[in-house]
Order: sequence, then C-alpha cells, then structure tokens
Amino acid sequence: MQKIHAAITAVGGYTPDYILTNHELETMVDTNDEWITTRTGIKERRILKGEGLATSDMAVPAVNELLKKRGISAEEIELIIFCTVTPDMPFPATANILADKIGAKNAWGFDLSAACSGFIFGLTTGAQFIESGKHKKVLVVGGDKMSSIINYEDRTTCIIFGDGCGAVLLEPTTENEGVLDSVLYSDGSGRDLLNIRAGGSLRPASHETVDAKEHFTYQEGKTVFKFAVTNMADAAAEIMERNNLTADDVAWLVPHQANKRIIDATANRMGVSSDKVMINIDHFGNTTAGTIPLCLWEWENRLKKGDNIILAAFGGGFTWGAVYLKWAYTL
Ligand code: UT7
Repeated sequence: MQKIHAAITAVGGYTPDYILTNHELETMVDTNDEWITTRTGIKERRILKGEGLATSDMAVPAVNELLKKRGISAEEIELIIFCTVTPDMPFPATANILADKIGAKNAWGFDLSAACSGFIFGLTTGAQFIESGKHKKVLVVGGDKMSSIINYEDRTTCIIFGDGCGAVLLEPTTENEGVLDSVLYSDGSGRDLLNIRAGGSLRPASHETVDAKEHFTYQEGKTVFKFAVTNMADAAAEIMERNNLTADDVAWLVPHQANKRIIDATANRMGVSSDKVMINIDHFGNTTAGTIPLCLWEWENRLKKGDNIILAAFGGGFTWGAVYLKWAYTL
C-alpha cells in the first residue's frame, strides 16, 4: 500500500487593520524606532481593537478565505487543531468556538498550547490524523491576540508582539509531498524564563496577581535569545541532515518570527541565502502561533509544487523544532 502523506492544500490568513508603529510605541514607553529596528527587525505590528473581539474572531476570516479558495464547505472539516496561547477563554477550547462560528458542524477539535512553536507542533499532530487514514480534512490554525496578554508599560515585551492568525488545510496525498518529517522538542526547565505567571492553577487570579501584573507575558529576553538562536538553528540543521538536504535543495525557510537576528542565525547555519527566507516580523511583529502560517499565506503566490520548505520555531515552554514540507500545489 502506498504511504499517505498530509499535504497543505489551502492557506488563509487574517491580520487586524490597526497598525501600531514603533513611533506610536515611542509615545507609550521609553523606547525608540532605531532600538526596536536594529535589535528586533520590527517596524510595526497589528492590533485587534474593539470590544468583544478575541482570537477566534481573527480565525473566522482566515478559515473562511481558506474554505473559499479550496471550494469546500465548513461542514466537510473533520478536525480543528487550534494552536494558541491566547484562547478566547480558559475553556472551552477556541477550536470549539471557531467550529461554531464557521459552521463546522461535523468537526471535533482541541487547542494546542506550545507558544511560538504551536503551529509546527499542530501541523505535525494534524498530519498524523491524515497519515493514519483517520481523517481527510484537518484544519490547523495558528493565531494569537498577543495584545490581550501584553503589558503596554513594559518596554521589553510590548515592542515585540502583535496580533494575527493563519490557517492551513491538510488533506491526504499518495504523492511524495506534504509534511515529510519533523523534529520537535520540549524542555519545561525553561518555564520560568518566558511565561504568564498567574491565571492558572498554580496562581489563580486574585487582586494580588492583578496588582503585580502577573497576567501579562514575562520574558527574560537575553537568556531566551541564547536558547532560541542555538536550538532553532540546530533543529533546522538536524532536519536537513536527516533528509539529505543541502542548502541548494531548500526553496524556502519559514522561521518563527521572534527576532530578525535569530532568523538570520538560523539561515546562516543552514547556508540558506536571505532571498529564500520568509520574513513578516517587520510588518506583523511576533504573532506567536501565527507567524509561520501568516508567512505561508503571504508567500502562497510564489510557492511552487515540489518546493522543499523548512519550517523552524522556538518558543515558551521551552518548545522548539523544525518541519520538512514539500509544497503540493502551484497557484
Ligand atoms: O518568540 C518566542 C521566543 N522569544 C524570543 O526568541 C525572544 C528572544 N529575545 C530577544 O529577541 C531579545 O532579547 C529582545 C528583543 C527581547 C531584547 O534585545 P536584547 O538585544 O537582548 O536587549 P537586552 O535585553 O540585552 O537589553 C539591552 C539594553 C538594556 O539597557 P542597558 O542595560 O544596556 O542599559 C535594556 O534596558 O536595551 C534596553 N532596552 C531597551 N531600550 C530601548 C530593553 N528594551 C528596550 C526598548 N527600547 N524597548
């Protein structure tokens, strides 16, 4: 019997209209455009404004675009994996809320929490359901409303993050394409370096946790940077070696967008030139689980059937890894 692979057959994306520029941030905290640009590569990021709007509200247009492109109805979706650290609520899962909002009446779903590695963890998980023959249409969504967990008085984090959401559809193929390999890692000993301290069962919400601003993202940037540079580059190099890929074989590197300097280090380690690296950090910032699917969304027109693509990520947890993907269609 021929092996079944999980191919990405459609991509959708959504970013909010409001643009938070470095210059506006200069009026909010003690920072400047030059520092942000040279240290991170970010010029602006999108923010979801408006009462009653949550992460699922960015996923709805992203998924509706994807369904329209593929020419299928939401009722054909069998599984939704929603990768996010900013669920609409602690429970139920945002996957359930999204299913209800788009009318995916025949889908089951769950949320996947792996911070900035969320999308590559979700893509690998979704691919298993296709490869096993269990499902034929799996939606993997990566998105975060980071502005809901950012302290806009903390210049070390508020300059980095933005809001956005991307989604891909996975379907079976017997061709040698789609998700071909992945290397994924977790190390919980890094949990104190990048996290949200309160709001979970360890430190439930209280006046004290609110006053101490413990419901916002906390990051020891410099230390996280060192782990991110090493581990993201190592994972990308590892997946190339495992699959006998040279830099010439790689059509595109799609890195998580945490810091342009981390992206450059990963590309250097792989020997991949900058024209093959997808970058959206300059205009979207770090959208956490949204960075990689949003890159695929923006670059979709330029991707060709058979392109070898390496996805790589590092994030809170710590979590990190890389995925080897062969693109399955040309628009
Ligand atoms: O996405 C998931 C994983 N996350 C990451 O991979 C992020 C990894 N970390 C980073 O990207 C970087 O560490 C940051 C962008 C967060 C910070 O850049 P850095 O080059 O590591 O800066 P730093 O923390 O070493 O700070 C350097 C200086 C400090 O001043 P002193 O002590 O040298 O006087 C900071 O206080 O820059 C100062 N600083 C700022 N200055 C202007 C910190 N934040 C700002 C700011 N504007 N926003």
